[in-house]
Amino acid sequence: MKKMLLIVVLFTMSQIIHAQDAKMNAFIASLMSKMTVEEKIGQLNLLTPGWGIPTGSVVSTDVESKIKAGKVGGLFGVIGAEKVKQAQDIAVQQSRLKIPLLFGSDVIHGHKTTFPIPLGISCTWDTALIRQTAILAANEATADGLNWAFSPMVDIARDPRWGRVAEGSGEDPFLGSQIARAMVKGYQGNDLADKRTLLACVKHFALYGASEAGRDYNSVDMSRNRMYNEYLPPYKAAVDAGVATIMSSFNDVDGVPASGNKWLLTDLLRKDWKFNGMIVSDYTSVNEMSNHRLGDLQAVSALAIKAGLDMDMVGEGFLSTLKKSLQEKKISMADIDRACRKVLEAKYKVGLFADPYRYIDAERASKEILTPENRMMARKVATQSFVLLKNEKQTLPLKKTQRVALIGPLANDKSNMLGTWAVSGDPQMSIPVLQGVQSKTSSSTYIAYAKGSNITDDTALAKRANVFGLRVDIDKRSPDAMLEEALAIAKSSDVVVAVVGEASEMSGEAASRADITLPAAEQKLLKALYATGKPVVVVIMSGRPLVLTGSIEGAAAVLQVWHAGIEAGNAIADVLYGDVNPSGKLSMSMPYHVGQIPVYYSQKTTGRPQDLNNKFSSRYLDIPNEPLFPFGYGLSYASFEYTDLKLSANTIGREGAIKATIQLTNTSKVDGAEVVQLYIEDKVRSITPPSKELKGFQKVVLKAGESKMIEFTITNEMLKFWSAALQYDSESGEFAVHVGGNSRDLKAAGFVLK
Ligand code: NOJ
Repeated sequence: MKKMLLIVVLFTMSQIIHAQDAKMNAFIASLMSKMTVEEKIGQLNLLTPGWGIPTGSVVSTDVESKIKAGKVGGLFGVIGAEKVKQAQDIAVQQSRLKIPLLFGSDVIHGHKTTFPIPLGISCTWDTALIRQTAILAANEATADGLNWAFSPMVDIARDPRWGRVAEGSGEDPFLGSQIARAMVKGYQGNDLADKRTLLACVKHFALYGASEAGRDYNSVDMSRNRMYNEYLPPYKAAVDAGVATIMSSFNDVDGVPASGNKWLLTDLLRKDWKFNGMIVSDYTSVNEMSNHRLGDLQAVSALAIKAGLDMDMVGEGFLSTLKKSLQEKKISMADIDRACRKVLEAKYKVGLFADPYRYIDAERASKEILTPENRMMARKVATQSFVLLKNEKQTLPLKKTQRVALIGPLANDKSNMLGTWAVSGDPQMSIPVLQGVQSKTSSSTYIAYAKGSNITDDTALAKRANVFGLRVDIDKRSPDAMLEEALAIAKSSDVVVAVVGEASEMSGEAASRADITLPAAEQKLLKALYATGKPVVVVIMSGRPLVLTGSIEGAAAVLQVWHAGIEAGNAIADVLYGDVNPSGKLSMSMPYHVGQIPVYYSQKTTGRPQDLNNKFSSRYLDIPNEPLFPFGYGLSYASFEYTDLKLSANTIGREGAIKATIQLTNTSKVDGAEVVQLYIEDKVRSITPPSKELKGFQKVVLKAGESKMIEFTITNEMLKFWSAALQYDSESGEFAVHVGGNSRDLKAAGFVLK
């Protein structure tokens, strides 16, 4: 009966969608029949007039006259009801066909209410919460005139030297795919025409996270095996979740830059994956194909449109050359029509033809942006994103009566709290840690503050980090004078809290680092603080997993807080004082040494002996193979015990399923949450498998002393992979199941797939 009902509902829904599509197609066909070639090409042009924050080195010119002439399809970097209205007025009042503009922006981790950086958000492992962040960001962004978010960024990243690891969800395809889906659903909701939802844009298609040596914009070269099994899944998950737009990446894929790669954009994306939305280039990535040595602007623009790209971001290669290419028969009218239709469909879907002013509502902006509720949400998400790396002798949580010396260049800082890619956020609205700590404690409690050191004393690095405003403020005092002040307050405290790390612009786009340890100035400060003999709690802010070897051995506790967003200080104080028990888990391994990179949990076994004492095993002479902290790792103020892993059967058929159960007990006196992780290891395979792969996780809340049976269902679907011939299937044989609280400390059981 239930099944019948479901079939009827699905059938009715598909009929409705069919009718809606037919209506849209008819509308667009009629509009396109009125358009000149120039107007069609104009729709493919995405500009940024530089009225906002530039996000690249080129800024568009003559934007107003181009809009009037029908030579612009959309704008980005124009934010706020008033500015958006000005631009939309020109399009719908002064251009011949009155086609409204799309308005996009890098809404990456919140709009004005800035959440933690995406890498931090991913450490919550809480997809429902992540979806909420996207819903809230869409609500604020649409209240500010926008209808297109250049997010989510789902590039798998295993090289923390790459600054853009800050923007993604880490190293794992399974976790990355769950988050990609949650974000797309959050931004787009159930109805794109709703004034509170917007077009999501999954990026950067594809493989941008695998740039050689972690240097931004660098080449990528990858086997199809790795691509299909490890790097493509999150993009595919976003497509399956219905993402409306996709951004092509800067890098090459198999020797052809993504923006001109027909195999990638058409064969894989449109034909295999059935993506039917719009594809936009990244910032001048079409033009950059000339630097990649694929020909002059006309040649690369033709290559891009023929490859399947629809919209050209900022470079204007389409605008300036496509007509000539058409006349010279290098491209066809069908190429231009396809791209134009895709852009118009995106506009139609967000309801701009019904009402070009749908997203322009100054009253909404004043009521719905940066509300206290939104800030509370940012605070909650931040507390969930922190990863407790170390906590000796229960140093944390602090007691509210303890005398605290709060020390460090990031301890009373506003300008770095938002993190990278917070284009609409105002750092001045953020809460510094000192303020958060002060509001937790009574005014009679000793809370002393000293800067202690600069983030870095390296003036060249500081200059690079200060491109969007002062982030690294090199003090007028000498390093010795700052240190002396810090040591004096440390000595009269019960506990030192040292807040160190990276400035926000030391990660993000064009912010790769070769040395990813803490800057020397901060290391020196930490060593001096350890030498006082006081317990030192190190709070680390960073846009990437840093190499902490050598910097935290003397610490009593270490809390990794990433760049935590607008409520950073309050959220950090919530966790330091135990009002919130930390439960974040690393979504990216933290290397022991930069020389191990890439280091990730699913690394394949080699053919060599697993016994590392064997001379001929695969190992380094000078460092361990393991990261300092593995993927999935994170402590709590509670402690959890895993016992009694059981499988409901030892064999599984292709259609069947088995249950894995494990008893999880909170063995402590405090309530807490634990992310239970399920990994599967394929023991025999026709191609070398990852050592193990995350296939499931559950975030479980347990009261002090409470015990719960956790259950996972294992199906054949979870055992499939892309074979050497790129067939997606499983292979019979032995598998191991591993369950635990991180990718290293696990209980194991086994079964056979028949
Ligand atoms: C370049 C970045 O790679 C991309 O992520 C961003 O969306 C665009 N610039 C627009 O700012």
